[in-house]
Amino acid sequence: MRFSILPIALLATTVVADGASILAAMAKISSDTSKLNATISNFHGGLIGLGESIPILIQSTTLLHDINQGTKTATASAELTFDETIQVAGATADLVKGVQSSLQTIVDTKPEFDQLLVISPVILINLEQQKAATDKFSKAVVAKLPEQFRAIAESITAPIDVAFDDAIAKYKKFF
Ligand SMILES: *[C@@H]1O[C@H](CO)[C@@H](O)[C@H](O)[C@H]1NC(C)=O
Repeated sequence: MRFSILPIALLATTVVADGASILAAMAKISSDTSKLNATISNFHGGLIGLGESIPILIQSTTLLHDINQGTKTATASAELTFDETIQVAGATADLVKGVQSSLQTIVDTKPEFDQLLVISPVILINLEQQKAATDKFSKAVVAKLPEQFRAIAESITAPIDVAFDDAIAKYKKFF
């Protein structure tokens, strides 16, 4: 009977998420962001645009889902090691740039979304949901960093909030 404790203990350690699963979650969020960005930057407007809004909504929903999954992964994770922290910091800096550039695309495309009336309000709701989800994800990841890195990590992710706030403010203007 005693022997059965060991495999269970091993199983428990493999179930706990770690830096690699947080990095995988970030890679997924980053790829969702790029796909959504590409779809939005190819938006044509007009009647074709109405059809094009469907993949935008689907990709937006996928992104939101994957951010929320990332939060679950980070919440379940043990505290990251120093090496994992460095890797996560690097991935975060890249993700921040990707999010900033995608939000810029969303802002640039607003005039075309506005022409179809129904799209911009939906984008606004998505942006608000994604901002809230991203905040939770950042907090969940930062909480798993060794204490001395948390303040720096918060300053790395801060520009995301600024970019979201800016995009949300622009999307609120018309209505
Ligand atoms: C978003 O799309 C723009 C315009 O096509 C492009 O310049 C930018 O690199 C893209 N950003 C990402 C994160 O894919």
